[in-house]
Amino acid sequence: MKTILAAVILSLTMVGTLFAVDSEIELVKPYGQDIYLTKYAAVVLDLKQSGAKRVTAKVGDGEVIERRIPSDRNFFCFTIELVEGVNKITVTVYDRDRELFKSVRTVYRGSVIDKKLKYSTKFFHKQFFHKSEKEKVCAECHDMSMNEEKGVAFENITESNCFNCHYPVTTDKYLHAPAANWLCATSCHTGENGRFNRKYKDESKYLYPDPIAPKCLSCHKEFKKKFYGERYRHEPVDNGRCNRCHDPHGSDISNKFLRKRVWDLCTTCHVDKKRTGHVVRTFSGKSHPTKGVKDPTSKTGEELSCISCHNPHVSNNGYMLRDYMGRGTMLWCKRCHQK
Ligand code: HEC
Ligand code: HEC
Ligand code: HEC
Ligand code: HEC
Ligand code: HEC
Ligand code: HEC
Ligand code: HEC
Repeated sequence: MKTILAAVILSLTMVGTLFAVDSEIELVKPYGQDIYLTKYAAVVLDLKQSGAKRVTAKVGDGEVIERRIPSDRNFFCFTIELVEGVNKITVTVYDRDRELFKSVRTVYRGSVIDKKLKYSTKFFHKQFFHKSEKEKVCAECHDMSMNEEKGVAFENITESNCFNCHYPVTTDKYLHAPAANWLCATSCHTGENGRFNRKYKDESKYLYPDPIAPKCLSCHKEFKKKFYGERYRHEPVDNGRCNRCHDPHGSDISNKFLRKRVWDLCTTCHVDKKRTGHVVRTFSGKSHPTKGVKDPTSKTGEELSCISCHNPHVSNNGYMLRDYMGRGTMLWCKRCHQK
């Protein structure tokens, strides 16, 4: 009895070893040490012939997410959400309950406005995906070519080739029209990167122009004259980085697609304005409120914020104030203080 059992175990281990040799599961994406600027990342597993049944993924100390793998799948792809900063991603593949494979990759989600989220470029670096040699692995199942017509919305956005892999991009509450219609490659990701994105020249087929302002203003023509016609330009506007403040795809918190609420957005760069208010200091030493009270000039009853007094883009007045102050400070204050 014992010898039979031993023989069975022995042959099972041998089969297991043979099996493992030509069917090592591979985590194709994320590559590891990548820098992301977006919230979502694709996880792609090459399962070979392992017969894997399910996969779990965990980002840092976050919740474990689990996906069942349909039978006869050699590849399995799903999407995870990243947190800002360092993300340690643990991917585990199971055959029912037996662990077949485990891999840990670390990636970084940076921010286009927050200086605190500057990364160590020694460890993390940008790794573009849309290059012929990297796309090759996926081309067997996915069409990665551009199948849209400029200015013509899809009848059904799921027809967009880009949608199949990038659908989480338009899950926000407020969506920017060109993104909502999945006119990705004809509106912004034109691939003319050699000319218009100097920093990452030819790194990806679908880069967007950087700086982006000429692209934005090619559709928002009414702003062109204003943005280049007024005396003072806010620095991020002046250097064409509209995408610092606006998320070109959409936003959950703002129908102007701002990355953060106005006060949080402004104080991300103007950190000093978070601690000390400004404008005036009252006799009691209190400074002027910049939030938390109603804005008297707002017809819709919005909260006072930085843009109650400042124009976020351009102005003919110093300090980018909304109104001309030169006629006298007190007159300016009268916009809100009647007395
Ligand atoms: C053997 C076929 C196959 C290959 C090869 C393949 N995929 Fe997929 N992929 C699929 C299928 C099928 C889906 C649809 C979702 C599903 O049914 O699991 C999918 C879905 C996706 C998704 C959407 C995931 C989600 O959240 O639903 C992404 C992103 C993706 N694939 C990326 C890739 C990338 C990148 C590669 C190459 C590195 C690749 N795939 C290779 C078959 C494949
Ligand atoms: C097979 C799935 C797939 C398809 C189809 C696809 N992408 Fe991607 N794309 C990816 C993956 C994977 C990344 C890397 C980011 C990640 O890991 O989530 C990426 C990254 C990008 C980037 C960032 C730059 C880069 O090259 O890394 C842009 C821009 C982009 N895709 C645009 C598009 C556009 C436009 C289309 C349609 C014409 C498209 N993608 C179709 C999977 C896909
Ligand atoms: C392909 C054309 C196109 C491009 C390029 C484009 N937009 Fe738009 N945008 C639109 C359309 C269409 C709307 C919806 C109609 C409207 O409100 O003007 C819109 C709406 C907006 C709105 C909301 C306007 C409002 O008053 O509510 C903002 C903010 C915006 N876009 C910013 C940008 C920024 C920033 C860029 C560059 C990153 C950009 N857009 C690039 C077409 C475009
Ligand atoms: C410093 C941050 C910042 C930058 C940079 C920026 N915007 Fe804005 N943008 C805002 C804010 C704040 C609003 C007002 C939102 C509101 O009223 O709720 C706004 C509003 C808008 C609107 C809606 C119409 C309006 O005037 O309220 C458009 C269109 C727009 N921006 C386009 C652009 C374009 C194009 C660029 C680049 C040339 C750009 N923005 C750069 C912060 C910015
Ligand atoms: C991406 C970073 C960034 C964001 C976000 C940002 N600013 Fe600025 N801002 C700058 C820089 C850089 C300057 C120029 C250097 C300086 O004065 O600090 C500047 C200058 C200013 C000035 C002084 C202009 C002058 O004439 O001296 C005002 C006022 C201002 N910003 C208001 C705002 C408001 C209001 C917001 C929110 C809508 C905002 N900023 C968001 C980067 C930013
Ligand atoms: C009640 C009106 C008002 C509000 C609200 C307001 N500001 Fe100002 N801001 C001013 C005035 C007036 C000046 C002109 C110089 C001064 O008096 O300090 C100014 C100057 C500035 C300057 C340039 C000089 C300096 O102190 O650095 C920056 C930057 C600035 N504001 C950013 C902001 C930001 C960011 C917010 C929101 C947190 C904000 N402001 C809210 C009225 C306002
Ligand atoms: C965009 C509107 C706006 C502008 C412009 C503005 N304020 Fe105010 N200010 C307010 C609001 C709102 C409050 C809070 C009032 C409250 O608590 O009832 C306030 C509060 C104050 C207070 C404190 C009063 C108190 O009871 O605590 C002083 C002082 C003050 N403002 C002075 C000024 C001066 C001086 C100027 C011109 C340089 C100015 N404000 C411009 C909106 C504005």
